[in-house]
Amino acid sequence: MSANHQDPTKMALARRLLDHHLAGTTAMAPDIMRQTLDAYLDQDRFDHEIDRIFKHLPLAMALSLELPNPGDYRALTKMGVPVLMMRGKDGKARAFINACRHRGAPLCEDGHGGTASGKLTCPYHAWTYDTEGKLVGMFGASTFGDLDRETAGLTELFCEEHSGFIWVILTPGERHNMDDWLGDFAERLQTLELEDWYLYDQREIPGPGWKVTWDGYLEGYHQAAVHPETVGKNTIANLMTHDTYGPHQRFVFGRKSLGELADIPEEEWNPDDHIRLIHSGFPNLSISGILGGFCLVSQVYPGPGIDQTTTVQTVLTSHKPETPEDIAAADEFSELGRKAIVEEDYKLGFKIQAGLSAGGNTHFMFGRNEPTLQHFHKWVEKLSGT
Ligand code: FES
Ligand SMILES: [Fe+2]
Repeated sequence: MSANHQDPTKMALARRLLDHHLAGTTAMAPDIMRQTLDAYLDQDRFDHEIDRIFKHLPLAMALSLELPNPGDYRALTKMGVPVLMMRGKDGKARAFINACRHRGAPLCEDGHGGTASGKLTCPYHAWTYDTEGKLVGMFGASTFGDLDRETAGLTELFCEEHSGFIWVILTPGERHNMDDWLGDFAERLQTLELEDWYLYDQREIPGPGWKVTWDGYLEGYHQAAVHPETVGKNTIANLMTHDTYGPHQRFVFGRKSLGELADIPEEEWNPDDHIRLIHSGFPNLSISGILGGFCLVSQVYPGPGIDQTTTVQTVLTSHKPETPEDIAAADEFSELGRKAIVEEDYKLGFKIQAGLSAGGNTHFMFGRNEPTLQHFHKWVEKLSGT
């Protein structure tokens, strides 16, 4: 993490945000946008979005730091696809469908693990695969019959390590150019230097439908009302800067101390103390640097139903907390992130979801002060062809 307090990007963002704050404005779209509730409720539309977006575009399914060493793996099942990401002996991250080629047993439980031997053995009949997914051993091979092992390796998925994440496409055979997909957003992600953080905690959180859930990750308009004692406590509600990179977005909130910058010479600014950067990777990745030494990474996966999601919430600290004070501070941040999502955002989100089909609304509105939501919904429609 950069210790340079005068990082030019953050200085420029602090300047823009302060200008908005002093003028009583925020980043604004030209008009209010209305979104039909079909976007939230229509099953065919949902199925189409899963297929076109979540199964055909690269998803950041793990942080690179989750697989620090050769042989490390991370398995998770999302939208019906069991995925096994594994770092090979050659250091390269690969992804596979987590299903043995004999009769489909997953090679490991969902979660993190490591194979010191460099081999994974299927729990069903003990076929063995190496870290590159090759079939290298078969129990009772001489009795099984003549099998060309070259054709019986794990089914590989597109997988590329880029900008601190392991990106995977959930459909075998699909490919994408990561430089094209991320564009200039890659540079923005790289400034976060996510490889250098420490994974302090990770949890899975059930939530309401993916758009109800994701809408809440995209604006600060609700911060004061929903989060007065957690993530909104030190944040100025309804104030942000907004930048887009194709479908991806970066927006910045101001901490309540932001206004003090007006009275401090710029050479003395420490922007980290006054701004809160959110990087939002389409369609489901949020990286939120809430305080200088802490970061919250969220991946929101739709399903299994249209009204359900699972969020993988990861708490990062800038270094491994060693002292009791550092551990207490990390615990406090971790609990803040959990509480804000579980007891505030999703608690409200479940109620919104439950009332969607009651007929109170034919459409939702995204205000001029919610350009991030407008951008997101337009890109969902563009990329899913709805
Ligand atoms: S299913 Fe894996 S060895 Fe039989
Ligand atoms: Fe929120």
